[in-house]
Amino acid sequence: MGWKHRKRLILAGLHCFDSRFLRAFLTLGSQMNRQLYLGIETSCDETAASVVDAGRHVLSSVVVSQNQTHQAFGGVVPEVAARQHVETLNQVVSDALSSAHVNPHELCGIACTNGPGLIGTLLVGLCAAKALSWVWQVPLFTVDHLLAHVCANYINSDLEPPFVALLVSGGHTQIIHCKSYRELEIIGQTRDDAAGEAFDKVGRLLGLPYPGGPAIDKWALQGNPDAFKFPEGVVSGLDFSFSGLKTAVLRTVEKLPKPLPIADLAASFQSAAVKVLVRKTLLAQEERKVDRIVVAGGVAANSGLRAQLKSRSPVAVYLPAIDLCTDNAAMVAAGAYFCGVSADLDVRAYSRR
Ligand code: KG4
Ligand code: ZN
Repeated sequence: MGWKHRKRLILAGLHCFDSRFLRAFLTLGSQMNRQLYLGIETSCDETAASVVDAGRHVLSSVVVSQNQTHQAFGGVVPEVAARQHVETLNQVVSDALSSAHVNPHELCGIACTNGPGLIGTLLVGLCAAKALSWVWQVPLFTVDHLLAHVCANYINSDLEPPFVALLVSGGHTQIIHCKSYRELEIIGQTRDDAAGEAFDKVGRLLGLPYPGGPAIDKWALQGNPDAFKFPEGVVSGLDFSFSGLKTAVLRTVEKLPKPLPIADLAASFQSAAVKVLVRKTLLAQEERKVDRIVVAGGVAANSGLRAQLKSRSPVAVYLPAIDLCTDNAAMVAAGAYFCGVSADLDVRAYSRR
């Protein structure tokens, strides 16, 4: 072998050693810098656990939905939901840790939602989080469920406050001015039904399975949004009202011959609901002079709302990935990192704020 050839081999060997050494060094370094939080979510009918690094990178997200169980009742039965969380949670936490390849001693914190939500279901997650925190000697954090929905927008994104958030879930509809990670001002909210609740009630009127939101979204794609004229809800400022819209759909359905034109009814209802949500969110953005709009909560998965806000907003619109809109634990783990409350073992759950 000539010298030139041997030199090339030695250099290649050195390069190989260097890059392997460098890679091992970097991996160790990045592992040492990881800020891993385990999130637990049981506020309603999803049992979820997730491991998230530094509030933005999801290592695992396990969600077990109870939708099928509650479909038979046309809505969530709290007692049944709590019992199912008890049966499912241990496995869900174990799956979240193993698929993230994380040991409990690597965690910076265990975070759970302690409200608002169904008190019986919240207690299952909270008690589990307390027990794990005590056994593993890992600090305990609590995260408000609504704030967690907003924090879903930090995942896989560069979002930073300040911004205006439209929070639309099954139990809440609010416009929130997020001035910093922890400083929030509710500047608008519903005076009666939540947006998701309106979707669910109209879904039931149309004979669609629970939850009504995703089903209406699907039917609306095939319908004419101008087929029926439904009122937007007349409330001044940044507040909302959805009960008039829901009653208008009920009156129309009562008068129509069967079978109902479900696609047209779904498209017309969705169009009216989305119109008012978009109009008030843009008004809030203008009033608060922020250059970012964030959408959060289960209804943020709605295709009409996503498309309308993106096309009409003069500023950047942040939307969580579809699987991070409805209840999940990645948003809880992200919430713990950005704005979690350090808690003791005597911390309590609350059903309402
Ligand atoms: O945030 P979430 O999972 O639970 C609560 O915190 O309430 O939201 C559930 C709500 C339900 O009312 C459901 O019908 C609605 O979100 N939802 C939708 C869609 N996906 C879920 N509403 C409209 N369009 C959707 N695609
Ligand atoms: Zn929720």
